[in-house]
Amino acid sequence: MRLNPFAGAYLADPAQVWRRILDTPGGVHHDPELGLWLITRHADVRRALGDAETFGNALTLAPVYQVCPEAMDIIVRIDAPPTTAAADPPVHPRIRRALRATFANTADRVEQRYGPIVRRRVDELVSRLAARPGGRADLVPEFTAELPLLVLLDLLGVPEEDIGRVRAWADGQIALIWGCPEPAEQVRLAQGLLEFWHYCQDLVRARLDSGRCGEDYVSQVLTYRDGDDEVLTVAEVSSIMFNLLVAGHETTAGLLAHALDQALSNPDRWRAIVEEPRRIPAFLTETLRYAPAIDGWLRVTNRPVTLNGVTIPAGARCLLLIGAANRDPAVFTVADRFDPHRPDRRDHLSFGHGPHFCIGAALARLEGEIALARLGATLPGLRLTPDHRRSYKPNVAFRAHRELPVILDPALPAGGRPVPAAERPAA
Ligand code: HEM
Repeated sequence: MRLNPFAGAYLADPAQVWRRILDTPGGVHHDPELGLWLITRHADVRRALGDAETFGNALTLAPVYQVCPEAMDIIVRIDAPPTTAAADPPVHPRIRRALRATFANTADRVEQRYGPIVRRRVDELVSRLAARPGGRADLVPEFTAELPLLVLLDLLGVPEEDIGRVRAWADGQIALIWGCPEPAEQVRLAQGLLEFWHYCQDLVRARLDSGRCGEDYVSQVLTYRDGDDEVLTVAEVSSIMFNLLVAGHETTAGLLAHALDQALSNPDRWRAIVEEPRRIPAFLTETLRYAPAIDGWLRVTNRPVTLNGVTIPAGARCLLLIGAANRDPAVFTVADRFDPHRPDRRDHLSFGHGPHFCIGAALARLEGEIALARLGATLPGLRLTPDHRRSYKPNVAFRAHRELPVILDPALPAGGRPVPAAERPAA
């Protein structure tokens, strides 16, 4: 079996390939051209995500292809120490303590600390869309990719005027590591990544030099550090910023785009959300399961490991196919059906599992809930343009819509069917 994640059938709809690998003995497939072991079963993906001793993170942020020498010369100058997704014990537990102490990561704390920021940014963007009744818009640049980045800049204390640069660097990092850029493009993206790293170092240095501690995230991490390199080094603080500025934005952008795609491509689903916003949390959970923003994530084996009779050698790069695990029939009934009412929807692995479980899961969910509720209340007639065809950016990890063209109709279509009470589930 050949897998080309960058084109053709897999790029259009990977579920068929996931099914074929799920059905192979062991649910594990070695792809020599990609240089990756593909792991699909829910139990195995869950185990690999949680077993840091066997499945290490050291190469999680290393490009998935042979980078050209000119780009590699630049990449080796990015001396960011591993902190979050690329760190293994003993560094990772120390950094994780810092993250848990400084970044709100439960629903209550996220609502309390970040809720006002999210509401203000959602209101701004929705008002801009609503000011063009009947007009057309592409929700990707105008909403789904914009909102998480604005929220993140606010809460990390990054100047809004830098939004264009941060967006380009973050997009570039995702293409450089998990995409398939041509050599000249690799060099350009690597140069951008080096600038991005210097930018994060400058942000932290400026906060240190000013001696002023504000409400922003860098200040909070520096206060937590309290000048002690054994708690965190200054380079680690910069590296945390370097990681958060990508992890906290492209992922949530994916969740918003997939949720709106699932809702708007079926008028009954959208109408149900508009009329009954308390359905939104379950809808988002099912979106996470069915269409995860990250559908493959990398680990490297620290020793040989046997999964269902298939032995993977030490030092092997493994692509944990989270998207496939979320469709594993051993866990999910009628796994290929999108159904926000399914009782097993919370068993998805889209935020990871175990020691690296996503620190921003509650923030991403809050953004999704407020965004969908506000869009539904302001633009109940929102719909995809009839000629729209889904297309995604070529990438082995991030599944990101290229566009989401819509008509900004403020009114529900005539003959809108009220949702019968019997169909209304608990949130
Ligand atoms: C729908 C949105 C999101 C998805 C699908 C997502 C997905 C993930 C996944 C799969 C991991 C596990 C990585 C691993 O096991 O190696 C992870 C970790 C992480 N996420 Fe998220 N994420 C989302 C939103 C966010 C947000 C909003 C933030 C922060 C603002 C964030 C920050 C992080 C960080 C820092 C880690 C690394 C944690 C660690 O290594 O201990 N994520 N995320």
